[in-house]
Amino acid sequence: MVKEFHVHQILEERARAPQSEALAGRASFHADSRTPSDVKELFLALGFEKIPAPIIDRLSLLSKIEGKNRRRNSHFQDAVEISEIVDNLIEEELTEKELNDLRLASLLHDVGKSGPAEATDDEQRAFVDLFNLDFNEEQYPVGARKLAARELPLSVALMIKAREGAMSLARAKEVLELIESAVKRQERPRPETNINADSAMLKVWSAHVYWTDAVLRRAKIDARIVEISASHHLLDGQDPENVGLENADQSIASLELADKYQAFRVRLILADQYQAFRKRSAKSHAETIAILRKKIEDKLSAHPKTEAIYLKILESIDKQKTLFEQELDLAA
Ligand SMILES: [Fe+2]
Ligand SMILES: [Fe+2]
Repeated sequence: MVKEFHVHQILEERARAPQSEALAGRASFHADSRTPSDVKELFLALGFEKIPAPIIDRLSLLSKIEGKNRRRNSHFQDAVEISEIVDNLIEEELTEKELNDLRLASLLHDVGKSGPAEATDDEQRAFVDLFNLDFNEEQYPVGARKLAARELPLSVALMIKAREGAMSLARAKEVLELIESAVKRQERPRPETNINADSAMLKVWSAHVYWTDAVLRRAKIDARIVEISASHHLLDGQDPENVGLENADQSIASLELADKYQAFRVRLILADQYQAFRKRSAKSHAETIAILRKKIEDKLSAHPKTEAIYLKILESIDKQKTLFEQELDLAA
């Protein structure tokens, strides 16, 4: 059983220990606004001693969320919850290293929401502010047209949010400038990260996995962990290193046995999507399962073995509705 290794239990135990009283209340499982030393403590509690400081600092920035968006999780808190879901999706025997790798990939997966590897602290803050903006599913009038949030050009999206009071107009302009300057300084720009004022928000949001890839590689995180982390939007078609199961040799009798790490990836992908639909889009459990099943079938019908792995893990999520609602802090 892996139960006793659950992330929140480790943290609660750690918070109860006399030597770390300062941790109690601050590093509890459902917590936002972690300082770099809080983030470091969290990793230490989980057995990760050597997470490079630039990663710790980025995750601390991503743990902050203010103003209108305060009612939802920070991006780092999302990742902590996702690591918990992932823990519960493990059915086979794993070594401690495998379990920790999967947890680490989960905790790091959205670090790219702090921008490119080359971004300065100020630029990273601008990306975090941008990724903290919440758009609902309504259509936004732009000139004579109505656009969905994902179709809005970046500059227009920022102006709309400034008008709604999510940030000042001056900050919106500054965020745009900082984002453009960071994007231009990328050493290895790729088409997916070539963001400017006119880029559609879908492209902006999608770029984060390419930045997760670049940030983690620059910090010399183990390549397999980077691949799991950075391919978490594979079902949406984003796969920085082309590591998707779809690309694997379909003649292998059991992909899950052939490469445990590929099965790890599927867990992170589905845990991330489950969490996003439940908490960011406020979908019910049943709706979320139906949406994910359709996504899997649409994307993977030509790859029956891969599709079967996804569907098996989705079934495991479906069975654990009550547990996940507790872990996601959702009122049942
Ligand atoms: Fe993501
Ligand atoms: Fe995520």
